[in-house]
Amino acid sequence: MPFNPEKFIPSAEAEIRSLVGKQKAIIALSGGVDSFVAATLCAKAGVNLQAVFVDTGFMRKGEAEKVKAAAETEGINLRMVDAQRIFIDSLKGVEEPEKKRKIVGELFVRAFEKEAKSSGATFLVQGTIAPDWIESGGLGRDTIKSHHNVAGLPKDIGLKLCEPIRELYKHEVRMVGRTLGLPSYIYERQPFPGPGLSVRIVGEVSEEKLNIVREACDIVEHELEKASAEGKMEKPWQYFAALLPSKTVGVKGDERSYKYTIVVRAVKSLDGMTANFSHVPPEVLQTISTRMCNEIREVGRVVYDITNKPPSTIELE
Ligand code: XMP
Repeated sequence: MPFNPEKFIPSAEAEIRSLVGKQKAIIALSGGVDSFVAATLCAKAGVNLQAVFVDTGFMRKGEAEKVKAAAETEGINLRMVDAQRIFIDSLKGVEEPEKKRKIVGELFVRAFEKEAKSSGATFLVQGTIAPDWIESGGLGRDTIKSHHNVAGLPKDIGLKLCEPIRELYKHEVRMVGRTLGLPSYIYERQPFPGPGLSVRIVGEVSEEKLNIVREACDIVEHELEKASAEGKMEKPWQYFAALLPSKTVGVKGDERSYKYTIVVRAVKSLDGMTANFSHVPPEVLQTISTRMCNEIREVGRVVYDITNKPPSTIELE
């Protein structure tokens, strides 16, 4: 039977009401479609909700400001927490992807615990969706990646969980968002991983690398959205840049350069469980490459990722 958002919404609200009632709840509002839909369902169910945006330092360009503005428009009570220093420092010397994910996930939950204590909340609302827990080893499956809102969750969290969209896939969450009347810039927003740009830097994270990948992601988003709007290509399901840890040799003028490589990733997918790389026109890739090498001093090479999922995953870590 096809998914019906009209049926899902009242039943989700009823479930939220019977689980949380009038108790206070907090939610991590990252600005992505999942957390926004979860927050809106709770708000509609009459939950006393405090939304919190933790700025991990792994956010995209202008993201904190955009989320703040969107929450204001939707009348969501949002508190901004600047935790950039703690998160960035916690990944010093850490190269292994699963370790990075676990550290970020745990810090994230701890940051919420602190907020929850001061707010008196007893529930933690999360925008967990089906691929998050399936790929984190749910139902006896192998762990592909520990999605940070699942495996990073410590046992002693001290908050009860409310996950109203846990059984849904991404396209279903978007349908719910649309039916709820959220603005299209929320429900059409491309997915962004919980650990943010930290998993778009292969290997150790540093402030320099964060700045590089942030600018690179911004260029990819801008150019692919422009090309799609101009009808040059189908808008990919997800599109971003990632930074490789090693440098390669290049030439600028008469001089040898030795700079970082950026991977451009754009995929077509329905739910993120499988994906095919997007066929981006060569002239669009050329513009992206030229802009990156001209505008980001540390970048000397740009490559396009032509692997599907499987065998690859969408994110590089
Ligand atoms: P992968 O890289 O596993 O990603 O093919 C599938 C989809 O999930 C997103 N993703 C995450 N989402 N927390 C999330 O909420 C996470 O830790 C996480 N890691 C990956 C990814 O961007 C893609 O859309």
